Amino acid sequence: MVIKKLTLHNFRNYEDETFSFEEGLNVLTGKNAQGKTNCAEAVYYLCTGSSLRIRHDRQLIRHGQERASISAEAVSRYGKVRLRAEIYENKRELFVNENKLSRAVDLLGNMNAVFFSPGELRLIQDGPEERRRFLNLSISQTSREYCTALLRYQKILDQRNNLLKNHDISMILETLPVWDEQLSLYAARIIAKRRAFLKELSPLAAEAHAYLTDGAEILSVGAEEREESEEQIRAKLIMEFDNSRERDLRLGFTSVGPHRDDVKISIDGEEARGFCSQGQARTAALSLKLAELKIFAKLTGEPPILILDDVMSELDLPRRKKLLSEIGDVQCILTCTHAERVLYGAECHKIKIHGGKIVP
Ligand SMILES: Nc1ncnc2c1ncn2[C@@H]1O[C@H](COP(=O)(O)OP(=O)(O)OP(=O)(O)O)[C@@H](O)[C@H]1O
Ligand SMILES: [Mg+2]
Repeated sequence: MVIKKLTLHNFRNYEDETFSFEEGLNVLTGKNAQGKTNCAEAVYYLCTGSSLRIRHDRQLIRHGQERASISAEAVSRYGKVRLRAEIYENKRELFVNENKLSRAVDLLGNMNAVFFSPGELRLIQDGPEERRRFLNLSISQTSREYCTALLRYQKILDQRNNLLKNHDISMILETLPVWDEQLSLYAARIIAKRRAFLKELSPLAAEAHAYLTDGAEILSVGAEEREESEEQIRAKLIMEFDNSRERDLRLGFTSVGPHRDDVKISIDGEEARGFCSQGQARTAALSLKLAELKIFAKLTGEPPILILDDVMSELDLPRRKKLLSEIGDVQCILTCTHAERVLYGAECHKIKIHGGKIVP
């Protein structure tokens, strides 16, 4: 997968700019606050329909404007594809080859990217929500079925939670089993897909981590789980929902299910969260991302775009070199303030950015 061209119109600090990318390593350089991350974010937005930095799309619109637009031309093994997002104050429109999408999930899979930035430390150091977010975004990119299950699950979960806040207990007890039937269907699909993904991810992440640390550390991701069918998982979930009914009523929300699950990440047998150093967490997060890259390549038959936002300067020299050698034939968009200091003469296509403009 290669992105050839990216055009930004009133997106963040860009007024009108077109980027041409090449295969291999593309390096966006520039001082702080010039628009490097904004450009990387735009590429990721066209891949996933979301950005890792925002809560509301309107934050992407250039201040004082009403509409932002991002468009790109990419080439995958199926041929050329054109993607476009038009972002308004309160809505957005997505296009693939100029066909307007009726569902956002249809954007997924047209252009895939793995995004790595210093913020990814949260994946290791923060609470379960970050790890669920990683799984949800990552699995969604290669499985629209997962994304759809997630959306339906969330909708039913919201309705179930509303019901739990009702005061008519007998009505609640009568209605809950109906919701739980539905909820467990999508919950089981989500859990099964997550387990399958983690089963693939885990050895690849361990391998990447061993490589980055010269075998000094063992990274393990996810727990060994017994093989279970979606139906078996569902049957168990229905029981769990049933068992936690009283607690849910007391709390006023649903206390079990995939929206509460976590992924265990440990280094040398110790749970990484709250134990590992910054550098260790950074390396572990990078290992997860390199593993993600390999899974995408395997599932889609070609490597995704690798976006490395501002991560080079935070890795030590051996890790930096190792990361560069891992990139191989992957198209990479890398941002940094000083290319010379992080690349050591590696061959690359440099783009300099100043004040939301490409410096000719
Ligand atoms: N909606 C917006 N409208 C106008 N400007 C914006 C908008 N959103 C962000 N900006 C501006 O874009 C600028 C560049 O941000 P960006 O994160 O891309 O910088 P950067 O080049 O990656 O810098 P650094 O090296 O510090 O990471 C910021 O100064 C920010 O104020
Ligand atoms: Mg930045």
